[in-house]
Amino acid sequence: MRVSYKNGVKKVLKATALVAALVAAGCGSGEKAEPTVSTPSVASPTAEPIDQQAFTWTDKDLLTADFTLYRVDCASQDTGSFPSGSSAGLCQSLSDMPYGEDPVTHTFWGYHKAAEILPEEDSLGEGITAFKWVVSKEASDPSKAEICYDFSVPEGNYTVTLGFYNPFGVRKINVECEGKTEIKSEKILRYNVNEKSFEAKVTDGTLNLKVFNPNANTFMESPILSYITIATDPEYTRELLSAAVEAMRTDNAAELYTESSAASYLSALEAAEKFLAKESNDGTNQIKQKFKNLRESYKMLTKKLKYDSFNPGAVWTDTEGTPIQAHGGQVQQLEIPDPATGKLVTKWVWVGEDKTNGYRGGVCAYTSDDLYNWQFEGVIMRNVPSRRALEKEEYFKSLYAGCTDAELDNVALALDAERAVIERPKLIYNEKNKQYVLWFHADGPTATSNSNYAAACAGVAVSDTPFGPYRFIGRYRLNTCPPDQEDKHPQSKGMARDMNLFKDTDGTAYIIYSSEENLTLYISKLNEDYTYLETAPEKAVYGKDFIRLFPGAQREAPALFLKDGKYYLMTSGCTGWAPNQARYYVSDSVMGEWTSKGDPCVGDVNHTTFESQSTCIFRDVNSGTWIYMGDRWFADTLNDSRYIWLPIVFKENGDMEISFVSNWKLQ
Ligand code: GAL
Repeated sequence: MRVSYKNGVKKVLKATALVAALVAAGCGSGEKAEPTVSTPSVASPTAEPIDQQAFTWTDKDLLTADFTLYRVDCASQDTGSFPSGSSAGLCQSLSDMPYGEDPVTHTFWGYHKAAEILPEEDSLGEGITAFKWVVSKEASDPSKAEICYDFSVPEGNYTVTLGFYNPFGVRKINVECEGKTEIKSEKILRYNVNEKSFEAKVTDGTLNLKVFNPNANTFMESPILSYITIATDPEYTRELLSAAVEAMRTDNAAELYTESSAASYLSALEAAEKFLAKESNDGTNQIKQKFKNLRESYKMLTKKLKYDSFNPGAVWTDTEGTPIQAHGGQVQQLEIPDPATGKLVTKWVWVGEDKTNGYRGGVCAYTSDDLYNWQFEGVIMRNVPSRRALEKEEYFKSLYAGCTDAELDNVALALDAERAVIERPKLIYNEKNKQYVLWFHADGPTATSNSNYAAACAGVAVSDTPFGPYRFIGRYRLNTCPPDQEDKHPQSKGMARDMNLFKDTDGTAYIIYSSEENLTLYISKLNEDYTYLETAPEKAVYGKDFIRLFPGAQREAPALFLKDGKYYLMTSGCTGWAPNQARYYVSDSVMGEWTSKGDPCVGDVNHTTFESQSTCIFRDVNSGTWIYMGDRWFADTLNDSRYIWLPIVFKENGDMEISFVSNWKLQ
């Protein structure tokens, strides 16, 4: 049954009043000019009453349309395109049109043609919209340029949302609706999703909208408009809530959707159902709250993605549907306590850089049973928002309880959220004292240099549990070039940047890192606790405590592993975030003679390691597959950097080969 739109009473706008309103509706601010109605495909307004069915919907219609009466993809003028993949509003059949009667819904709506307004296709639309209105370069007075729309709507309250996609310099926008200034001198930033919403009350059957910039002196400051949504504010009745419960009922939510999204949806659904089951007269606000919670949580339901293969370079999400943040990372199998039972379980553990907020961040961890699907275990080492936070925030307070002021200063410096650089974290478990030790490239400015890579240190943090929180204990410069060898960068001693760890079969652990301004790789022995060098740099003996590798060859991103008695060391060149050609080396022992074996990549036509940089190589114990893990860095959107995992083939003579496979499974 079709029910009326408001209050159970059919909402009929008086035909004459409506037509009068439509005709009178010039643009915005009470300026009642004759509307320019045009294009042959759209009928002109007639004196005939509007078919009131145009304004008659069921609750279900409203719910399906998300209460949207109009959703305009400005300047697009076709039936197919609506902003961000959404569909038409209830009152329209076209995505935009000049002001006139909609050929299907018979409402009157559209833009008012003005000589200075031009449609422009948005090549940088980024999914927001394909088109927008701009002002012509020829416009004689840009301050007078206006983008005007009118929409016939029933009397009532509306939420108007305007989208501005701005590929130009910052410009300022004014918006008038129903003659009232709703947005004044609002900055529309370049390349941002600029979306503004406001509430409007309509009493005359037409919602008038005007977008302009009264202070535009040149067309470079003139207004733009990409999309408009007009949503009706519904009457929050028990019937509406009940229709919402039915429309949004989702079977098997817990199975199909991510844990957190399903949990909030199910609790909102339960609250709504409980409310409806009660014979109470609780007011609109209660219903509105229940309704909104249900609608929001329903919209947020996120499908569980179950992977059964690797897709190098594609977005890789965790079990909650969030892109994995574990860059410059490491994967290894560990026996860790099951949080529910406390019993030890074998899990794959992936640690890496958290680039959620871009360049600077802490360290994240994930676990998996199959290497395809990863569960987020949290930010295991956070960076520090301020020195003050170390003494005020509970998280840091308990972690650094008992530290001296000088120690706290050091933590604040090394993990400073605004200045520190935390890269290439690697985790190692110490069987002897049951401690987890996290090493990372700890960098940032120093007292004498503002460079992000001036400190050039290796940082260490420890925890008794695999997923922290890890307590930072120090950052250090490491071994230095012996006097009888040629130091490639004598002006700064003991530098340690891109790093990795390796635990040998006898339990001895090593740190492998770029030193001498990234010109020379070093391998240094760690102490029994794995928390520092076996021998401090001043006393270290070359060949026993550390070695220098390939002086001047400029290698970084080291990944060391042992296979069939042979040690392999994968490396990249040093070109920042840009990928370059890989090179690997082999040796009979960690501290032995390393021989260059060249580039292991096959078919890598651009010599960029398939657009990636090495970070770890490990073996899947079940399938026996060796896996190359690399990062495809996106310098401008580091958080979106991708993971390149590829199977390694070892030839009979032990040489390794890596080919690109766009989709592959463990055999
Ligand atoms: C690379 C390095 C990355 C990061 C980047 C910054 O050479 O491997 O970990 O430091 O430079 O440009």
